Amino acid sequence: MKLLETSGLTKRFGGLTVIDNLDFGIEEGEVKGLIGPNGAGKSTFFNLVTGVLLPSAGKIKYDNRDITRSKPHQVAKMGIGRTFQMNPLFGDFTVLENVKAAFHLRPHSSLFDIYFNSKVYRDNEKQIAESAEEILAFLGLINVRNELAKNLSHGYQKILGVARALATRPKLLMLDEPLGGLNPEEIDFFIKAISNLRDQGITILIVEHNMQVLDILNSVSVISFGQKIFEGTPGDMRQNSTVAETYFGGVI
Ligand SMILES: Nc1ncnc2c1ncn2[C@@H]1O[C@H](COP(=O)(O)OP(=O)(O)OP(=O)(O)O)[C@@H](O)[C@H]1O
Ligand SMILES: [Mg+2]
Repeated sequence: MKLLETSGLTKRFGGLTVIDNLDFGIEEGEVKGLIGPNGAGKSTFFNLVTGVLLPSAGKIKYDNRDITRSKPHQVAKMGIGRTFQMNPLFGDFTVLENVKAAFHLRPHSSLFDIYFNSKVYRDNEKQIAESAEEILAFLGLINVRNELAKNLSHGYQKILGVARALATRPKLLMLDEPLGGLNPEEIDFFIKAISNLRDQGITILIVEHNMQVLDILNSVSVISFGQKIFEGTPGDMRQNSTVAETYFGGVI
């Protein structure tokens, strides 16, 4: 079953068509890549799916629901989590506080509970702290949980972005260039973490320029100027001459 499906998706900024009649789908449970040159429209695609931007035309379906005109908080509630290419963290918060704050995007306590520090609120807070620590342990950040986010290496900050996205308990996780700026060791670690997430049943869409990601993809779509120029397995992509010329200047 397709978890996410767009049909005829189009986004124009003034006279510029950035996403052009794009049919795109992700099967539930797979890790899919969205690849393309700089300016191809990948981040714009993320912004359309997550309700940050409204499409000029076309439809977006998620989990059998039409989310074409849904707002970001509605989309998040339905289980789409994402990271951003420019990672927005609370620099003066600790690592743990950053993840705990992300849990509050899905509040379970009422304002009454918070104001009166009720048992519901305290229980919730305890549960949130435990779950946040679990996520940090899973992503290898537990030893830096009390560091300020701004003092982390670029790689760790990226991984913290994923930890925050996981706090929303996504069914579909969308990662925008997660490997950018990471060192080789962090890349290996991150790639392993992504396979672990898939094993936990999370469907994952990755925008990435680093081709090491191909090792863990089930399928890949390549876009150029907002149009799909290839869809298939990573193996087939390597053999495809149009992709090679458009994206890799002839060599993969
Ligand atoms: N809000 C906007 N207003 C006008 N043009 C925009 C806007 N957002 C993006 N664009 C343009 O849309 C095109 C696609 O941008 P986008 O950021 O989606 O590309 P990308 O594939 O994510 O590129 P990169 O690999 O460099 O991150 C670019 O030409 C960009 O300048
Ligand atoms: Mg981008």
